[in-house]
Amino acid sequence: MSNLAGKVALVSGSGRGIGRAIALKLARHGAKLVVNDLDAGPGDAVAQEIRAAGGEAVAVNGDVAEPGFADRFVGAALERLGGLDIIVNNAGYTWDATIQKTSDEQFQAMLDVHLVAPFRILRAAAEPIRVLAKQEAAEGREVFRKVVNISSLAGLYGNPGQVGYSAAKAAVVGATRTLCKEWGRYKVNVNCVAFGLIQTRLTQAIEETQATIDVAGRAIRVGIQPKLLQTIDRMVPLGRAGTPEEAADAVYLFCTPESNYISGQVVTVGGGLLM
Ligand SMILES: NC(=O)c1ccc[n+]([C@@H]2O[C@H](COP(=O)([O-])OP(=O)(O)OC[C@H]3O[C@@H](n4cnc5c(N)ncnc54)[C@H](O)[C@@H]3O)[C@@H](O)[C@H]2O)c1
Repeated sequence: MSNLAGKVALVSGSGRGIGRAIALKLARHGAKLVVNDLDAGPGDAVAQEIRAAGGEAVAVNGDVAEPGFADRFVGAALERLGGLDIIVNNAGYTWDATIQKTSDEQFQAMLDVHLVAPFRILRAAAEPIRVLAKQEAAEGREVFRKVVNISSLAGLYGNPGQVGYSAAKAAVVGATRTLCKEWGRYKVNVNCVAFGLIQTRLTQAIEETQATIDVAGRAIRVGIQPKLLQTIDRMVPLGRAGTPEEAADAVYLFCTPESNYISGQVVTVGGGLLM
């Protein structure tokens, strides 16, 4: 199947988890990929996996929250893969604490990775998209581009211990709706996918994993309290957490031509969990 043949897609945080599943899925459907991860090893490995399967991919690794990253990321799509069709803002991590224990640095880190970084990436893409869309319109062609921002049920409904994370994930919904209105004239569909509980490193039982995310010189523990995990699992109408592949399927829907007339929407992907 190649309904995305020739499309150039950028997926941030695609060295692991949901981002990796998205990158592989888009590549399987014919897209050329700009992969990114904070950790060069996993980022390079995903790009290599795509190339080994006969696809095209480059890795632009690094912290999405660093100034200058957005230009490198968007520039790679245009200069190395010759286009700019799909942007998935997926990179992120959690740094949890109740509000009284949340430092300014911690709160800001959540805004930086989940909100400021997508904003900068989309701002860097704005002018190239405007120019491409103008050319296509002059040629009488209607070419749809796709933005998928990743949010969370925590962003829509709140989650104790995640004041920074949930604030940023809520804000990205506002950014999605604004860009839907600003970029409609360029034929860009801008949508949001808000995940519930998806099985990744981010949602492993914290006692079973020693996983840390090393960002800006800090090692931050990732994982969830096992009791909370069991509670959420029990609450999911479909009876279990989702897989990264199921999460990627939802993002893929917003990247296909079948979603060309859908914009400004938030779809929750949580097995029916609505809070
Ligand atoms: N797993 C869930 O249940 C769940 C639920 C709701 C939302 N999400 C969101 O989905 C997205 C993907 O999360 P995941 O569960 O796949 O986690 P994950 O840890 O498995 O994968 C995330 C990847 O992003 C990378 N990353 C993190 N910060 C980065 C940065 N600053 N710059 C570049 N890369 C960075 C990590 O190194 C990692 O490889 C995140 O935005 C997360 O908030 C996940």
